[in-house]
Amino acid sequence: MNVVLEGIGLVKRFGPAVALGGVGLAVRGGEAVAIMGPSGSGKSTLLHCLAGIMKPDEGEVRLLDRRIDTMGERERSALRRTRFGFVFQFGQLLPELPADENVALPLMLGDVSRADAVRRAREWFAPLGLAGMEGRRPGELSGGQAQRVAIARALVTRPAVIFADEPTGALDQATGQETMRLLVEATKHNGASLVVVTHDPEVARWCDRVVEVRDGRILPDPRGTAPAAPAAPAAAGPGGWGLETGASR
Ligand SMILES: Nc1ncnc2c1ncn2[C@@H]1O[C@H](COP(=O)(O)OP(=O)(O)O)[C@@H](O)[C@H]1O
Ligand SMILES: [Mg+2]
Repeated sequence: MNVVLEGIGLVKRFGPAVALGGVGLAVRGGEAVAIMGPSGSGKSTLLHCLAGIMKPDEGEVRLLDRRIDTMGERERSALRRTRFGFVFQFGQLLPELPADENVALPLMLGDVSRADAVRRAREWFAPLGLAGMEGRRPGELSGGQAQRVAIARALVTRPAVIFADEPTGALDQATGQETMRLLVEATKHNGASLVVVTHDPEVARWCDRVVEVRDGRILPDPRGTAPAAPAAPAAAGPGGWGLETGASR
């Protein structure tokens, strides 16, 4: 698969501190990449630069053939809304909205009617094991359920790339594993690429490839090889992803 997203020579400084010291990373279509490293190593800064949240001081970020680091805030914001999806650690759902409207929100911001947006949002609940939770407010969901609602919200616009920063950071080990499995499966099923920041090797092992960051730099791949081609997207399993009819919309 072709490279979908690429950071080239990324440098980011905060005052005298160098958060990124010249990082390159290419993400292929349908590939799941884990960015690992200790706290303060630059993982979130790298994700923010790749996702157009932050402008690097030096280097380039390309989504397909478009440079996104040189875009203005308005253009990057539109791009983030349409081409990217985000899953953060916790507490990102709007507490006053039911789960289905939380998922529908990115569609409504993109001018889909409320009824259509909620209908499309609800299609994600059963495949993510959330049937019956559509009307619940975030406060009435478990941590794992809330993260699955966040995964649905990240995917509902069918973005090219999903970014997740410590998506299991607030979950217990078992719930974290299940959340990662669903995140990777759902992303692949929809043909999107995934960039996951984590410091947990158990989380990273769900991904096709692990990139290690230390002190704002990427460590050489210990295998000394080019990244492996990503696995083919998983076929819809029995009782699994019943979203094919939604794919064309
Ligand atoms: N907004 C900021 N202002 C000042 N320093 C920052 C800011 N964001 C990150 N840093 C610094 O940059 C380095 C990398 O941070 P970060 O990317 O958040 O690391 P990680 O996500 O791996 O924990 C750290 O030294 C951190 O203190
Ligand atoms: Mg971080």
